[in-house]
Amino acid sequence: MNIDAPAMPYNFVDLEPAISRDTLVFHFLRHQRVCFDRLVAMVRGTELEPLDLVELIRVTERNPAQHALYRYAAEVYNHNLYWNSMHPRGGGPATGLIGEQLRERFGSHERFVREFTDTASAHFGSGWAWLVWRAGTLEILTTSNAGTPLVRGDVPLLALDLWEHAYYLDHQNRRSAYVTAFLDELVNWETANRALAELGVGSETRAARARVPAEPLSGGLRMP
Ligand SMILES: [Fe+2]
Repeated sequence: MNIDAPAMPYNFVDLEPAISRDTLVFHFLRHQRVCFDRLVAMVRGTELEPLDLVELIRVTERNPAQHALYRYAAEVYNHNLYWNSMHPRGGGPATGLIGEQLRERFGSHERFVREFTDTASAHFGSGWAWLVWRAGTLEILTTSNAGTPLVRGDVPLLALDLWEHAYYLDHQNRRSAYVTAFLDELVNWETANRALAELGVGSETRAARARVPAEPLSGGLRMP
């Protein structure tokens, strides 16, 4: 197998009070871990065994006969990104490159928060909310059930689980309260910054700035 067993990047209690220990325990052990175990059982001994997780998702999505396996693989991937989209004492305005890109795309942190919250809250049924990199800019979108933007050619930067098992113990049916807790108290912008850096986003801008002479102390054109 070329796919690692899921791992939590923090302890189950570390996201309290935004997400309770019980929610994380059930979520990790009874949902993601079950998907991983079923994936392993279906892949072991087949020609799919050498594939890594992203390759497995792309190959099985193209074959309707393999969609049960696709759903398990996508759920393992989606949850891996979800755990890493949060960290203790996270949340608040984005920092670094993702902060620059969010302001460029949405105008302000407040507008981004409104758009992300509205999109995630309005999604019907189970699924995922995403911040992705698409064609040189940021996009907010949702997918249903186990759907993952990987198969559309998007690069997922952050994932938020919208299945009720992610929030029902803590917020009952108030999904928007859960989305707000994610944005205000949990979101890990460094995960998005690492993904943008791997894509080379921002390096051209920095190179261009380095080539421009320093701005005079007064007057002169301002850099954008
Ligand atoms: Fe989940």
